[in-house]
Amino acid sequence: GDMELVDSHGRVATDLRVSLTDRCNLRCQYCMPAEGLDWMPTEDTLTDDELMRLLTIGVERLGITDVRFTGGEPILRRGLPAIIAATKALHPSPRTAITSNGLGLKHVAQALADAGLDRVNISLDTTDPATFEQITRRDRLDDVVAGLAAAADAGLTPVKVNAVLLRGINDHEAADLLRWCMKHAYELRFIEQMPLDAQHGWQRDAMVTADEILTQLEQEFTLTPLDGRGSAPAEKFLVDDGPHTVGIIGSVTRPFCGDCNRVRLTADGQVRNCLFAREESDLRTPLRAGASDDELAERWIAAMAAKLPGHGIDDPSFLQPARPMSSIGG
Ligand code: GTP
Ligand code: 5AD
Ligand code: SF4
Repeated sequence: GDMELVDSHGRVATDLRVSLTDRCNLRCQYCMPAEGLDWMPTEDTLTDDELMRLLTIGVERLGITDVRFTGGEPILRRGLPAIIAATKALHPSPRTAITSNGLGLKHVAQALADAGLDRVNISLDTTDPATFEQITRRDRLDDVVAGLAAAADAGLTPVKVNAVLLRGINDHEAADLLRWCMKHAYELRFIEQMPLDAQHGWQRDAMVTADEILTQLEQEFTLTPLDGRGSAPAEKFLVDDGPHTVGIIGSVTRPFCGDCNRVRLTADGQVRNCLFAREESDLRTPLRAGASDDELAERWIAAMAAKLPGHGIDDPSFLQPARPMSSIGG
């Protein structure tokens, strides 16, 4: 790695988030409509070999040290264990993680750990079965709970839980979720709802803010801010006397764009320099046309140089990206 992915504001991307598929087996209402979406055509999706070619360039030439596989739902990608094993075999071997909804994880957690996966983040917005079905439109809470336990048993720790609070649905559950996660030693983080849903239904007033969540939690717990956040999206707090913590990912009201170290690759081989980027850089077309590693690295570097200073959600001219959350991977 003699080159790095640096932008014109001096931020260096070392954390790559790879969406392996846009398909999902849940239908979370803050993400997609009940009927699902028109999934990406198979021929547009990078093959495992194409994906590993780009990952090798990212890790071995461009300084990527952390690789997170996302979706849609990454467990739906056939060959996920092999992709993880090939990623861990790169030099220097990156840290690896997945962000998953947890469905089916109970069947594959051990295989993923054996392949070299380091850890998992699992989405769970409620511990109530009816509310789970209301939010995800599927009656699968038990499956997610089993997936979390299997991940912990397989040593994919710390197991982190991501929760989105929706007004009038689960916005009273913050303290319950935290108690439940502490009981199981999962690290809970609350995420502010972002304007990335495919239906374009996000409304700022409906969003449960970081301040509101903290106020709710402080009625039942003493929270002490922890430092050492670095480039992490989550602000962490010690709960009571510890050892457990809770995180707040305040993407909208407490943006962390200035410290961002992320770059994204979509399942169809497009580099996104920001979660909210309105432009992407196509690596798949040159890759399939026979471009050299040098050429692909140059394109990737150029894509990052153009990264904007922030997401601009508060600008009157803000427009949601054309690509929805399920195809970006968060
Ligand atoms: P850890 O290293 O385990 O803390 O991962 P993470 O929190 O970065 O990853 P995860 O996939 O669990 O994402 C949690 C939430 O943070 C999701 O809603 C992501 O969309 C959001 N997130 C991740 N990276 C960024 C980012 O660069 N910008 C913004 N605004 N949100 C992000
Ligand atoms: N706003 C905030 N978080 C979201 N997620 C999915 N859609 C949204 C949204 N519109 C969460 C998922 C998952 C993580 C990658 O992002 O629940 O935990
Ligand atoms: Fe699937 Fe994640 Fe979207 Fe829920 S938020 S529908 S789990 S991709």
